[in-house]
Amino acid sequence: MLFLIIKFVPLLKTIIIKSRTSFWSLLTILTMLVSVTFSGNAIAAETSTRNYYRTQTIHNPDGIGKFYQDREIAGVMGHQAMAWLERNSREKQEQPQAVIEHLPLDPNAQVADLGTGTGYFAFRIASLIPEGKIYAVDIQPEMLKVVNDLKKQNQVENVQAILGTETDLNLPAESIDLALMVDAYHEFAYPQEIMSSLYTALKPGGKVVLVEYRQENPMIMIKPLHKMSQKQVKKEMKTANFRWQKTLEFLPEQHFMIFQKS
Ligand SMILES: C[S@@+](CC[C@H](N)C(=O)[O-])C[C@H]1O[C@@H](n2cnc3c(N)ncnc32)[C@H](O)[C@@H]1O
Repeated sequence: MLFLIIKFVPLLKTIIIKSRTSFWSLLTILTMLVSVTFSGNAIAAETSTRNYYRTQTIHNPDGIGKFYQDREIAGVMGHQAMAWLERNSREKQEQPQAVIEHLPLDPNAQVADLGTGTGYFAFRIASLIPEGKIYAVDIQPEMLKVVNDLKKQNQVENVQAILGTETDLNLPAESIDLALMVDAYHEFAYPQEIMSSLYTALKPGGKVVLVEYRQENPMIMIKPLHKMSQKQVKKEMKTANFRWQKTLEFLPEQHFMIFQKS
Protein backbone atom coordinates (compact mmCIF):
# COMPACT_ATOMS: atom_id res chain seq x y z
CA MET A 1 0.00 0.00 0.00
CA LEU A 2 2.83 2.39 1.02
CA PHE A 3 4.49 1.55 -2.26
CA LEU A 4 1.31 2.49 -4.15
CA ILE A 5 0.95 5.83 -2.31
CA ILE A 6 4.61 6.75 -2.92
CA LYS A 7 4.26 5.75 -6.56
CA PHE A 8 1.02 7.65 -7.11
CA VAL A 9 1.61 10.84 -5.05
CA PRO A 10 3.48 12.69 -7.85
CA LEU A 11 0.80 11.61 -10.30
CA LEU A 12 -1.97 12.85 -7.99
CA LYS A 13 -0.15 16.17 -7.49
CA THR A 14 -0.04 16.67 -11.24
CA ILE A 15 -3.72 15.80 -11.53
CA ILE A 16 -4.65 18.31 -8.81
CA ILE A 17 -2.56 21.14 -10.28
CA LYS A 18 -3.58 20.56 -13.89
CA SER A 19 -7.27 19.97 -13.35
CA ARG A 20 -7.73 21.96 -10.11
CA THR A 21 -9.06 18.81 -8.46
CA SER A 22 -10.29 19.41 -4.95
CA PHE A 23 -9.03 17.77 -1.76
CA TRP A 24 -12.22 15.65 -1.71
CA SER A 25 -11.56 14.28 -5.17
CA LEU A 26 -8.08 13.33 -4.01
CA LEU A 27 -9.54 11.57 -0.99
CA THR A 28 -11.94 9.63 -3.22
CA ILE A 29 -9.07 8.47 -5.44
CA LEU A 30 -7.07 7.37 -2.40
CA THR A 31 -10.06 5.43 -1.02
CA MET A 32 -10.41 3.64 -4.35
CA LEU A 33 -6.73 2.73 -4.29
CA VAL A 34 -7.05 1.32 -0.76
CA SER A 35 -10.08 -0.79 -1.64
CA VAL A 36 -8.45 -2.15 -4.82
CA THR A 37 -5.36 -3.12 -2.80
CA PHE A 38 -7.34 -4.87 -0.06
CA SER A 39 -9.65 -6.76 -2.41
CA GLY A 40 -6.50 -7.92 -4.25
CA ASN A 41 -5.18 -9.29 -0.95
CA ALA A 42 -8.46 -11.12 -0.32
CA ILE A 43 -8.24 -12.83 -3.71
CA ALA A 44 -4.59 -13.72 -3.04
CA ALA A 45 -5.55 -15.25 0.33
CA GLU A 46 -8.28 -17.40 -1.24
CA THR A 47 -5.87 -18.61 -3.89
CA SER A 48 -3.32 -19.60 -1.27
CA THR A 49 -5.81 -21.72 0.74
CA ARG A 50 -6.60 -23.64 -2.46
CA ASN A 51 -2.97 -23.84 -3.39
CA TYR A 52 -2.46 -27.55 -2.73
CA TYR A 53 -1.65 -28.22 -6.34
CA ARG A 54 1.08 -27.24 -8.75
CA THR A 55 0.75 -27.57 -12.50
CA GLN A 56 3.44 -28.14 -15.08
CA THR A 57 3.19 -27.87 -18.86
CA ILE A 58 5.88 -30.42 -19.63
CA HIS A 59 5.01 -33.61 -17.79
CA ASN A 60 4.66 -37.39 -17.89
CA PRO A 61 2.23 -38.34 -20.72
CA ASP A 62 0.45 -40.71 -18.29
CA GLY A 63 -0.22 -37.85 -15.89
CA ILE A 64 -2.44 -34.78 -15.91
CA GLY A 65 0.37 -32.26 -15.34
CA LYS A 66 -0.97 -31.54 -11.87
CA PHE A 67 1.11 -32.30 -8.80
CA TYR A 68 0.02 -32.95 -5.21
CA GLN A 69 2.75 -33.13 -2.60
CA ASP A 70 5.36 -33.55 -5.36
CA ARG A 71 3.49 -36.49 -6.94
CA GLU A 72 2.11 -36.16 -10.43
CA ILE A 73 -1.52 -37.29 -10.53
CA ALA A 74 -2.18 -40.07 -13.06
CA GLY A 75 -4.84 -39.75 -15.74
CA VAL A 76 -8.16 -41.50 -15.07
CA MET A 77 -8.52 -44.98 -16.55
CA GLY A 78 -11.36 -44.50 -19.03
CA HIS A 79 -14.40 -46.79 -19.01
CA GLN A 80 -13.42 -47.94 -22.51
CA ALA A 81 -10.71 -50.03 -20.82
CA MET A 82 -13.02 -51.61 -18.24
CA ALA A 83 -12.35 -55.15 -19.51
CA TRP A 84 -8.81 -54.76 -18.11
CA LEU A 85 -10.32 -54.62 -14.60
CA GLU A 86 -11.98 -57.99 -15.11
CA ARG A 87 -8.97 -59.72 -16.75
CA ASN A 88 -8.40 -63.33 -15.69
CA SER A 89 -4.74 -62.74 -14.82
CA ARG A 90 -5.83 -60.36 -12.06
CA GLU A 91 -6.61 -63.27 -9.72
CA LYS A 92 -2.93 -64.21 -9.72
CA GLN A 93 -1.48 -60.71 -9.91
CA GLU A 94 -3.70 -58.98 -7.31
CA GLN A 95 -5.18 -61.89 -5.32
CA PRO A 96 -8.57 -60.28 -4.64
CA GLN A 97 -9.63 -63.08 -2.28
CA ALA A 98 -6.61 -62.43 -0.05
CA VAL A 99 -7.35 -58.68 -0.16
CA ILE A 100 -10.90 -59.05 1.11
CA GLU A 101 -9.85 -61.60 3.75
CA HIS A 102 -7.45 -59.03 5.23
CA LEU A 103 -10.06 -56.25 5.44
CA PRO A 104 -11.11 -55.31 8.97
CA LEU A 105 -14.82 -56.07 8.48
CA ASP A 106 -17.84 -56.89 10.66
CA PRO A 107 -20.79 -58.70 9.03
CA ASN A 108 -22.88 -55.54 9.43
CA ALA A 109 -20.19 -53.08 8.24
CA GLN A 110 -20.97 -50.06 6.10
CA VAL A 111 -18.24 -50.01 3.47
CA ALA A 112 -17.28 -47.67 0.61
CA ASP A 113 -15.31 -48.83 -2.44
CA LEU A 114 -13.89 -45.58 -3.83
CA GLY A 115 -13.10 -45.63 -7.53
CA THR A 116 -15.01 -48.89 -7.80
CA GLY A 117 -14.74 -49.30 -11.59
CA THR A 118 -16.82 -52.36 -12.50
CA GLY A 119 -17.25 -53.24 -8.81
CA TYR A 120 -14.59 -55.95 -8.95
CA PHE A 121 -13.95 -55.59 -5.22
CA ALA A 122 -17.37 -54.25 -4.20
CA PHE A 123 -19.18 -57.48 -5.23
CA ARG A 124 -16.57 -59.67 -3.53
CA ILE A 125 -16.99 -57.66 -0.31
CA ALA A 126 -20.81 -57.68 -0.51
CA SER A 127 -20.93 -61.42 0.21
CA LEU A 128 -18.84 -60.91 3.40
CA ILE A 129 -21.22 -58.36 4.90
CA PRO A 130 -24.70 -59.91 4.59
CA GLU A 131 -26.12 -57.50 7.17
CA GLY A 132 -24.08 -54.57 5.95
CA LYS A 133 -23.88 -52.48 2.81
CA ILE A 134 -21.26 -51.40 0.30
CA TYR A 135 -21.34 -48.09 -1.55
CA ALA A 136 -19.64 -48.43 -4.94
CA VAL A 137 -18.45 -44.92 -5.80
CA ASP A 138 -17.13 -43.77 -9.14
CA ILE A 139 -17.11 -40.62 -11.29
CA GLN A 140 -17.81 -42.47 -14.56
CA PRO A 141 -21.51 -43.29 -15.09
CA GLU A 142 -20.48 -45.98 -17.59
CA MET A 143 -18.70 -47.87 -14.79
CA LEU A 144 -21.72 -47.54 -12.52
CA LYS A 145 -24.01 -48.84 -15.24
CA VAL A 146 -21.98 -52.07 -15.23
CA VAL A 147 -22.21 -52.18 -11.42
CA ASN A 148 -25.99 -51.82 -11.61
CA ASP A 149 -26.30 -54.40 -14.40
CA LEU A 150 -24.22 -56.94 -12.43
CA LYS A 151 -26.18 -56.17 -9.28
CA LYS A 152 -29.42 -56.97 -11.07
CA GLN A 153 -28.05 -59.98 -12.89
CA ASN A 154 -26.62 -61.56 -9.72
CA GLN A 155 -29.45 -60.35 -7.44
CA VAL A 156 -27.15 -58.58 -5.02
CA GLU A 157 -29.06 -56.36 -2.61
CA ASN A 158 -26.37 -54.70 -0.55
CA VAL A 159 -24.34 -52.89 -3.23
CA GLN A 160 -25.34 -49.29 -3.96
CA ALA A 161 -23.79 -47.43 -6.88
CA ILE A 162 -22.97 -43.79 -6.09
CA LEU A 163 -21.99 -41.23 -8.71
CA GLY A 164 -19.39 -38.95 -7.16
CA THR A 165 -17.66 -35.91 -8.56
CA GLU A 166 -13.93 -35.22 -8.76
CA THR A 167 -14.17 -33.38 -5.44
CA ASP A 168 -17.06 -35.01 -3.60
CA LEU A 169 -17.82 -38.66 -2.89
CA ASN A 170 -21.51 -37.93 -2.29
CA LEU A 171 -21.62 -40.24 0.73
CA PRO A 172 -23.74 -39.61 3.83
CA ALA A 173 -21.84 -38.00 6.72
CA GLU A 174 -20.44 -40.28 9.46
CA SER A 175 -21.92 -43.39 7.83
CA ILE A 176 -18.90 -45.46 6.77
CA ASP A 177 -16.87 -47.95 8.85
CA LEU A 178 -14.33 -48.80 6.18
CA ALA A 179 -13.28 -47.20 2.88
CA LEU A 180 -11.29 -49.19 0.33
CA MET A 181 -9.31 -47.81 -2.59
CA VAL A 182 -7.68 -50.34 -4.91
CA ASP A 183 -5.53 -48.97 -7.75
CA ALA A 184 -7.60 -45.79 -7.62
CA TYR A 185 -6.27 -43.10 -5.27
CA HIS A 186 -3.31 -42.18 -7.52
CA GLU A 187 -5.72 -41.03 -10.24
CA PHE A 188 -7.97 -38.80 -8.11
CA ALA A 189 -7.63 -35.36 -9.69
CA TYR A 190 -8.44 -33.63 -6.37
CA PRO A 191 -6.99 -35.89 -3.67
CA GLN A 192 -7.13 -33.20 -1.00
CA GLU A 193 -10.86 -32.58 -1.55
CA ILE A 194 -11.72 -36.28 -1.90
CA MET A 195 -9.92 -37.19 1.33
CA SER A 196 -11.68 -34.35 3.09
CA SER A 197 -15.00 -35.65 1.73
CA LEU A 198 -14.05 -39.13 2.98
CA TYR A 199 -13.12 -37.75 6.40
CA THR A 200 -16.66 -36.38 6.69
CA ALA A 201 -18.23 -39.63 5.47
CA LEU A 202 -16.34 -41.90 7.90
CA LYS A 203 -17.63 -42.70 11.35
CA PRO A 204 -15.33 -41.69 14.22
CA GLY A 205 -12.48 -44.22 14.26
CA GLY A 206 -13.41 -45.35 10.72
CA LYS A 207 -10.70 -47.05 8.67
CA VAL A 208 -9.22 -46.58 5.22
CA VAL A 209 -7.41 -49.27 3.23
CA LEU A 210 -5.28 -48.33 0.26
CA VAL A 211 -3.95 -50.92 -2.15
CA GLU A 212 -1.34 -49.49 -4.51
CA TYR A 213 1.43 -51.03 -6.65
CA ARG A 214 4.83 -50.71 -4.94
CA GLN A 215 6.76 -47.80 -6.42
CA GLU A 216 9.84 -48.86 -4.47
CA ASN A 217 10.23 -51.88 -6.74
CA PRO A 218 11.33 -50.98 -10.30
CA MET A 219 10.80 -54.62 -11.37
CA ILE A 220 7.03 -54.21 -11.04
CA MET A 221 5.93 -53.56 -14.60
CA ILE A 222 3.29 -50.92 -14.00
CA LYS A 223 3.53 -47.34 -15.28
CA PRO A 224 5.34 -45.19 -12.69
CA LEU A 225 2.40 -42.82 -12.04
CA HIS A 226 0.18 -45.82 -11.31
CA LYS A 227 2.44 -46.94 -8.45
CA MET A 228 2.89 -45.32 -5.04
CA SER A 229 5.58 -45.56 -2.38
CA GLN A 230 4.64 -46.17 1.25
CA LYS A 231 6.35 -42.90 2.16
CA GLN A 232 4.22 -40.89 -0.29
CA VAL A 233 0.95 -42.54 0.76
CA LYS A 234 1.71 -41.93 4.44
CA LYS A 235 2.56 -38.28 3.76
CA GLU A 236 -0.67 -37.64 1.85
CA MET A 237 -2.86 -39.49 4.36
CA LYS A 238 -1.28 -37.61 7.25
CA THR A 239 -2.14 -34.32 5.56
CA ALA A 240 -5.74 -35.54 5.32
CA ASN A 241 -5.79 -36.40 9.06
CA PHE A 242 -5.57 -40.16 8.72
CA ARG A 243 -3.24 -42.00 11.08
CA TRP A 244 -1.19 -44.86 9.63
CA GLN A 245 -1.87 -48.12 11.49
CA LYS A 246 0.05 -50.75 9.55
CA THR A 247 1.19 -51.96 6.14
CA LEU A 248 0.71 -55.59 5.18
CA GLU A 249 2.94 -56.99 2.45
CA PHE A 250 1.14 -60.25 1.62
CA LEU A 251 0.41 -59.25 -1.99
CA PRO A 252 2.93 -60.03 -4.74
CA GLU A 253 3.11 -56.50 -6.16
CA GLN A 254 1.04 -54.12 -4.01
CA HIS A 255 1.14 -52.47 -0.61
CA PHE A 256 -1.92 -53.02 1.58
CA MET A 257 -1.98 -50.01 3.89
CA ILE A 258 -4.42 -49.40 6.76
CA PHE A 259 -5.18 -45.93 8.14
CA GLN A 260 -7.62 -44.64 10.72
CA LYS A 261 -9.53 -41.39 10.95
CA SER A 262 -7.72 -39.32 13.60
C1 LIG B 1 -7.94 -48.20 -12.27
S1 LIG B 1 -9.63 -48.11 -11.88
C2 LIG B 1 -9.74 -49.24 -10.49
C3 LIG B 1 -11.13 -49.75 -10.29
C4 LIG B 1 -11.32 -50.68 -9.07
N1 LIG B 1 -10.92 -50.09 -7.84
C5 LIG B 1 -10.63 -52.00 -9.28
O1 LIG B 1 -9.62 -52.24 -8.60
O2 LIG B 1 -11.08 -52.77 -10.12
C6 LIG B 1 -9.82 -46.53 -11.08
C7 LIG B 1 -11.24 -46.03 -10.99
O3 LIG B 1 -11.25 -44.84 -10.20
C8 LIG B 1 -12.23 -43.98 -10.70
N2 LIG B 1 -11.99 -42.59 -10.24
C9 LIG B 1 -11.07 -41.72 -10.70
N3 LIG B 1 -11.16 -40.56 -10.02
C10 LIG B 1 -12.15 -40.72 -9.11
C11 LIG B 1 -12.71 -39.87 -8.10
N4 LIG B 1 -12.28 -38.64 -7.90
N5 LIG B 1 -13.72 -40.35 -7.36
C12 LIG B 1 -14.18 -41.61 -7.55
N6 LIG B 1 -13.70 -42.45 -8.49
C13 LIG B 1 -12.69 -42.01 -9.25
C14 LIG B 1 -12.13 -44.15 -12.19
O4 LIG B 1 -13.28 -43.72 -12.86
C15 LIG B 1 -11.88 -45.66 -12.31
O5 LIG B 1 -13.07 -46.36 -12.47
